[in-house]
Amino acid sequence: MLGFATIHGVIVALAVAVLWAGASAAFFEPFNVSYDHRAIIIGGKRRMLISAGIHYPRATPDMWPGLIAKSKEGGADVIQTYVFWNGHEPIRGQYNFEGRYDIVKFAKLIGSQGLYLHLRIGPYVCAEWNFGGFPVWLRDIPGIVFRTKNKPFEPIGILDYLMVLYFSITGLTLHSSGAFGDPHDLFGSNVLRFVDFLMYTLDFFNITFVKDEMQKFVKKIVDMMKQENLFSWQGGPIILLQIENEYGNIEGQYGQGGKEYVKWAADMALSLDAGVPWVMCRQSDAPETIIDSCNAFYCDGFRPNSYRKPALWTEDWNGWYASWGGRVPHRPVEDNAFAVARFFQRGGSFHNYYMFFGGTNFGRTAGGPLQTTSYDYDAPVDEYGLLAQPKWGHLKDLHAAIKLCEPALVAVDDAPQYVKLGSMQEAHIYSSGFVDTRKSLPQNVSICSAFLANIDERKTVTVQIFGGSYSLPPWSVSILPDCKHVVFNTAKVATQTSIKTVESASPSFSNTTGTGDIILYDKDTYISKTWMTFHEPIGAWGDNSFTYQGILEHLNVTKDISDYLWYSTRINITDEDITFWEEKGIYPLLTIDKTRDVVRIFVNGHLSASQVGKWVPVKEPIHLVQGSNDLVLLSETVGLQNYGAFLEKDGAGFRGQIKVSGLKNGDIDLSDALWTYQVGLKGELAKLYTPENQESADWIDVQPDSIPSSFTWYKTTFDAPEGDDPIALDLGSMGKGQAWVNGHGIGRYWTLVAPKNGCRDYCDYRGAYHENKCTTNCGLPTQSWYHVPREWLQASNNLLVIFEETGGNPWKISLRVHSTLTICARVWETDYPPLSTWSHPDFVNRKNLIDEIAPEMHLRCDEGHVISAITFASYGTPSGSCRKFSQGKCHAASSLSVVTEACQGRNNCTVTVSNRTFGDPCRRTTKALAVEATCTSITRYQNVS
Ligand code: GAL
Repeated sequence: MLGFATIHGVIVALAVAVLWAGASAAFFEPFNVSYDHRAIIIGGKRRMLISAGIHYPRATPDMWPGLIAKSKEGGADVIQTYVFWNGHEPIRGQYNFEGRYDIVKFAKLIGSQGLYLHLRIGPYVCAEWNFGGFPVWLRDIPGIVFRTKNKPFEPIGILDYLMVLYFSITGLTLHSSGAFGDPHDLFGSNVLRFVDFLMYTLDFFNITFVKDEMQKFVKKIVDMMKQENLFSWQGGPIILLQIENEYGNIEGQYGQGGKEYVKWAADMALSLDAGVPWVMCRQSDAPETIIDSCNAFYCDGFRPNSYRKPALWTEDWNGWYASWGGRVPHRPVEDNAFAVARFFQRGGSFHNYYMFFGGTNFGRTAGGPLQTTSYDYDAPVDEYGLLAQPKWGHLKDLHAAIKLCEPALVAVDDAPQYVKLGSMQEAHIYSSGFVDTRKSLPQNVSICSAFLANIDERKTVTVQIFGGSYSLPPWSVSILPDCKHVVFNTAKVATQTSIKTVESASPSFSNTTGTGDIILYDKDTYISKTWMTFHEPIGAWGDNSFTYQGILEHLNVTKDISDYLWYSTRINITDEDITFWEEKGIYPLLTIDKTRDVVRIFVNGHLSASQVGKWVPVKEPIHLVQGSNDLVLLSETVGLQNYGAFLEKDGAGFRGQIKVSGLKNGDIDLSDALWTYQVGLKGELAKLYTPENQESADWIDVQPDSIPSSFTWYKTTFDAPEGDDPIALDLGSMGKGQAWVNGHGIGRYWTLVAPKNGCRDYCDYRGAYHENKCTTNCGLPTQSWYHVPREWLQASNNLLVIFEETGGNPWKISLRVHSTLTICARVWETDYPPLSTWSHPDFVNRKNLIDEIAPEMHLRCDEGHVISAITFASYGTPSGSCRKFSQGKCHAASSLSVVTEACQGRNNCTVTVSNRTFGDPCRRTTKALAVEATCTSITRYQNVS
């Protein structure tokens, strides 16, 4: 049977398709957006807005409509995204607005579902995105300093030009040029390509040609949006823009140039005539014409820098990102809901979840240092596009509660009425007139909404207000849209919990575990029984390598077209050295002053040591033999730095000296040695990961008993699992590398294990959250599963290519289907009636009294899934939690049959929690209904039943 959610999904898809057909049609009656001290004003009306952060390139276009629909259903009015400059302009002047970077399509899909868009152009975005969104070519502009007024935003001066001229003459013949891009370390190596020089000449003589790259890009985006009629005044969804990003955090480091830059950026943005307000986040000196906004875990105390601006919360970090080798952060929803409710309680008016859907850093888009491929962010919609419960459901209820208060919230012009209810308890009342809070309503006020907060982290406190008493759990806010009834409390989660699973792609070998658990390998679930391999050479491999005396900066050489840069040199060792070491019983030491992100040291073809970190020193013993020794250093980036001042100077690879110490006649300084440079991997140049280029390498079969080998390419083919459930590749058996499916970069993988300690079994939502508070995965790899979007698969013969650096085991790679397996909920008969009741006509027309309406339990499986079994149901006094429920002394005999009847075989169901449904199993006892159910795909369910 098709459940509601499935039908809903189909309707949304149809509606989108219909609207899509007339894509140029306006999505709204054109409307103006402005603001005052209280709120954003849309079409003349103040609004309380809920926004959902979704970054379009962190999903695929096929996923976008579903993600937007889940945001809307979850209560969002707005979608917020950054614009990713380096994705759109990977090569200077060459733009990409296709596929995952089709931002116009994304904006139109948002409009077609009736949502608004907050477009954060940056174009610096931070975002745990490679280089914070800056195109890497930007750092090659002579003398450039990002994000300040002095250089990049002005045409180049005569001095720059003369310098370039000088270097181009002295450095032109230093290397051969190769298909892999050329090194040109302007100030370090004096190497410059002739074409670059020509470009600079053009820039110099045609001042308008160089312009400011930032302005050029921002203007391009604004113009493109205008052309597509995407601004609100054109009937499009864009209601807000953003220029820069958290510049206030680092502004001080730029001195006067920083201050001028803020003004320049603001003026530049406004000069583009976009016709909607611009925001600068974390920018307390934002000019009067731009709204400064808050980014943090809590923003309820935030006030903008002028009375004329409303309080906007552009980034509510409702989770946090993970780094390789780190624990996985989670933010409890009770705390997140508390933070949001407090924000609106204390005068906030626009709130955005960063992230509502985090998604995936596909390919090499992850930022640094060391950010993982998954950007799940513990968001309400998970990396795969499935609802993360109870987060999504609880926040949905919160949004509905806030929306019920919207008329009162916008009606109050100045501060709400404030009542101190206790030492750590307070009420804010939004009403059309003064309210005597000792008495119950109605008084002579037509609208009244109240927020009651208990910020005590330990105690439940009962407070007296509106002639009644209200019990407030610790660290919680109760919302009373009518200054009488509590419709929601942030700490009381009545929504379902879902336990996801990753199952074998082959149904007959299903092997499930709970969230966060690692699947035990089961030989029948592996993706393939036949693998082919190709060995990647160590050191220089091609005629595009070049030799240079000294150490070149990593990014100046690679231009970030690859993570990898090989540095090879020779060291001559005399027999005196050998005797010296033997006598002393020591090895010589290789020292590097500083390196990032990963360096691997090879001596005479063998891996001798590796180091991981951000600008860490290396001091490693190496084994050298008499005569000539090959020393190869492989410098690897794992996502370019995305945060901080002077990003253009941060670079990658090595800093300071590289030397070998402990020789008889003193150290060998390798900093001035002759080094051979090779950018990237042979397999990368040959594009071994694309289906079209399979002939370009001599792939050979892998023997099942072959020893796991490092620096190896592997490939196999596989069939897509049936159905529509999202898919994960389990790479837990591998070491470090990258994976591609049908030529699409799935991302970097790395089985780096998180520290053993620092995770707790129980996450206490009470008290201020920080990113280390409720972490998981201690002692386990930070990431083992990698999202393979369905969009990139065909039914059969999909090509999986893997480049493995450290020697993993491809035989144990498996394909998993990601879906919700177990759903649980517990609702008390004393819980609040469903929020939808308040807008129900029977209630509005006073046919029903809210006090007579019983609470409901809502259960729901993923789309395409149904409840196949009720594994626990008890109305009475059940104890325990999801997957550990047990019956209490009081239990209604009808529990299982009532719930089974209502739910089994359906995608979603509702059960009213009251004696009327189950009979009263124990009088004068407060009862709860606890249910645990299993979800199964419709096809499997139909096959079985
Ligand atoms: C903010 C930044 C975001 C993101 C976030 C952490 O400071 O504006 O882009 O990096 O931190 O996830």
